[in-house]
Amino acid sequence: MTRENQSSTDLKSAPGVKDYSAYFQPPSLKDAKKRGKEEIQVHYDFSIPEEMREFGAGKRYLIQTYGCQMNEHDTETIKGLLDAMGYTSTEDRQEADLILFNTCAVRENAEDKVFGELGHMKVLKQQRPGLMLGVCGCMSQEEAVVNRILSKHPFVDMIFGTHNIHRLPHILKEAAFSKEMVIEVWSKEGDIIENLPKKREGIKAWVNIMYGCDKFCTYCIVPFTRGKERSRRPEDVLAEVRDLARQGFQEVMLLGQNVNAYGKDFEDIDYTLGDLMDDVRKIDIPRVRFTTSHPRDFDDRLIEVLAKKGNLMEHIHLPVQSGSTEVLKRMSRKYSRESYLELVGKIRVAIPDAVLTTDIIVGFPGETEEQFEDTLSLVKEVGFDAAYTFIYSPREGTPAAAMEDNVPEEVKKARLKRLNDAMAELSKASNDAMAGKVVEVLVEGESKYNPDILSARTRTNKLVHFSGPKDLIGKRAMVKITQPKTWLLMAEWLEEPAVSPF
Ligand code: SAH
Ligand code: SF4
Ligand code: F3S
Repeated sequence: MTRENQSSTDLKSAPGVKDYSAYFQPPSLKDAKKRGKEEIQVHYDFSIPEEMREFGAGKRYLIQTYGCQMNEHDTETIKGLLDAMGYTSTEDRQEADLILFNTCAVRENAEDKVFGELGHMKVLKQQRPGLMLGVCGCMSQEEAVVNRILSKHPFVDMIFGTHNIHRLPHILKEAAFSKEMVIEVWSKEGDIIENLPKKREGIKAWVNIMYGCDKFCTYCIVPFTRGKERSRRPEDVLAEVRDLARQGFQEVMLLGQNVNAYGKDFEDIDYTLGDLMDDVRKIDIPRVRFTTSHPRDFDDRLIEVLAKKGNLMEHIHLPVQSGSTEVLKRMSRKYSRESYLELVGKIRVAIPDAVLTTDIIVGFPGETEEQFEDTLSLVKEVGFDAAYTFIYSPREGTPAAAMEDNVPEEVKKARLKRLNDAMAELSKASNDAMAGKVVEVLVEGESKYNPDILSARTRTNKLVHFSGPKDLIGKRAMVKITQPKTWLLMAEWLEEPAVSPF
């Protein structure tokens, strides 16, 4: 493992020093943009250092996770590492010996929540000085965040970045023996660490197929917090999926910030996401999904493979962000309203029952009423079944943050409401069309609100509730939709046939 380009500092060597800048080189957004094409290194030699294997014996950890599925999956890796060091988990802050915040930087409100929580931690730390506190995830990659924690929350024991997760045993050791905050945020971003332990629970498993993002949409912080695009080798992904199938997992979700760029960084093989999906299709695992797609790179090969269905689900999450070509240009999304609609058309021809969902930002700098209405009309034209909708949030260091944010807050809120109302209508109409239909569902567990009701998902990822025996949990079943609602389908269980012929 090489340690160049790192900015790691154990501040115990600097007692009483108030200006940490001499010791800590914070991650730089400017450097991230100058991303090189240097070789991606894959490491297969990870192991927990001998002296750390019992380090957590008798101690408990709690991890609070924010953000996307990528972050949730990182938490599974962190839990895997902690378990391998002898720690056990707890849900109770009062009995935790280690509390980690795995943070998200995508919008300001995500960051505010974490700073709010850190405020509460001060009292806990005063009551129990032995408690170790850490901040990791995307916020740690931001210079301003690290500086704010250093000055306002100095009781935090460690900060580590998204490229440093595998270093957790070393970081914990340093933090335990140090009186000062340990900060390890590497700007080195070209590595892939294989063979990290992962603690997965339930019947669905996340699998990274690639890391990072090189798209640099003008509003987005992710390319800076997650580093450059790099794909895992197909043999490693396929081996992991086969292993999950053997363990009895029912569904895998293949993860990447821009999965359609998968394989573009391979120099020795010509192998794309379509090829990967075609190979995963041959593995005996009931359901396979992938996220997130970028419309720009969504190619015909992928559509052709998805149309083969089998264990590939007919649901595509295809973030559009805006329905206005002008706004898309300023967002640097590199497609137009027309080319997005053309792509949707191709998908609909190849997979007529495909369900499309999306992400949309309202109130991007300079968005006019007319441009917002373009978004409303696109949403209706495509007929999305669901959308994650957001008010634009300026992120320091991104190009959009330098644009004039001239849409008043009330206008942004009103647009969000109009969009959400339109989406609710679309979702209700699409669900109504399912009344009386018989569909295959994967039963995930009991409903959160009523333990007598089972909660399940269709192939298109719609939520279904029905009454049935508990031993259906973890299995697929056939149900008839009886009562469609806006965000939920009520159904009745059909004992025969047990599983669909799809
Ligand atoms: N890689 C994925 C998701 C990235 S973040 C993609 O490209 O689609 C998830 C969503 O958050 C984005 O799709 C976008 O809709 C939203 N988002 C990202 N940055 C944002 C910002 N600065 N303000 C508001 N929403 C943002
Ligand atoms: Fe952000 Fe764009 Fe990359 Fe998605 S594709 S992570 S929105 S920069
Ligand atoms: Fe947030 Fe980082 Fe994911 S910024 S959305 S946790 S990649």
